[in-house]
Amino acid sequence: MADGESWKVQLDGVPETLLWNLYHRAHEASQPRPVLADPKAVELVERIDYPFQETFGPTNDWLAQGQALRVRSFDLAVRSFLTEHPDGTVVALAEGLETQYWRVDNGRARWLCVELPETAEVRRSLLPEEDRQRILARSALDLSWRDEVDPSRPVLITAQGLLMYLRPPEVRELIAGCAERFGGGALVFDAVPRWFSARTLRGEMRTTAGSGYTTPPMPWGLDAGELQRVRTAHPAVAEVRALRLPRGRGLYYGAVAPVLGRVPAVRNLRPTMTAIARFS
Ligand SMILES: C[S@@+](CC[C@H](N)C(=O)[O-])C[C@H]1O[C@@H](n2cnc3c(N)ncnc32)[C@H](O)[C@@H]1O
Repeated sequence: MADGESWKVQLDGVPETLLWNLYHRAHEASQPRPVLADPKAVELVERIDYPFQETFGPTNDWLAQGQALRVRSFDLAVRSFLTEHPDGTVVALAEGLETQYWRVDNGRARWLCVELPETAEVRRSLLPEEDRQRILARSALDLSWRDEVDPSRPVLITAQGLLMYLRPPEVRELIAGCAERFGGGALVFDAVPRWFSARTLRGEMRTTAGSGYTTPPMPWGLDAGELQRVRTAHPAVAEVRALRLPRGRGLYYGAVAPVLGRVPAVRNLRPTMTAIARFS
């Protein structure tokens, strides 16, 4: 599509959730001191013809900052990988309309997006592939995407906002499939705790209080204390560790949230955690 042209986006179910993420990232990026600079997300929200406010309710500063900080923990993991492996490949499973490439690319890395066909089409229209980027219209559960990754380069896989929407055996197979093929690589992912998953399964989870939008079911929940269970997916999962939420603004995001993950009694109250699994 031409720059400046408005583009109608029609998605439902899990693919539609990418618009909630984008809407909140763009909202945070418009704050005076954003925790995540993301001009591309702001531009996309302006260009997309979609009833953001009618669907998701008014933007909420607190949720938007939390979302942006989670995204930032993914960015930090990708940056650290690219510092160590500037010519590596970042495989972004379920990338949606993530604009991470424009935030962290180093001018040398390869980027592979693996997305469902309906979302891949939207991404291609709004964020056409650049030289070192590729969009593969395929489910992440179809492990043939692994054959599209250059085996001579180090690999970091990201699954941001994906695993919770899969069934537990699917999550296990996906992690095992990554571990088996990408020795020396790693997977960065996020997970919701079991109470959160259960609420979505009962259809009780509203993303923003007062909006009519209900989060689609998230069948996979993982409590922080169970994180090491991820290692049982495959013998090549050598290490799993939670990533710390970067510091944000205000008392909660500036002081409480970054340390909550270390307090066993309350760490599951957080709606998500981000972690990295390393493969041997
Ligand atoms: C919550 S959104 C996350 C999008 C993006 N990662 C972000 O954080 O903004 C969920 C995404 O999962 C994608 N998705 C759902 N099931 C998938 C699958 N089996 N394979 C690949 N992508 C999938 C949807 O198309 C959607 O883009």
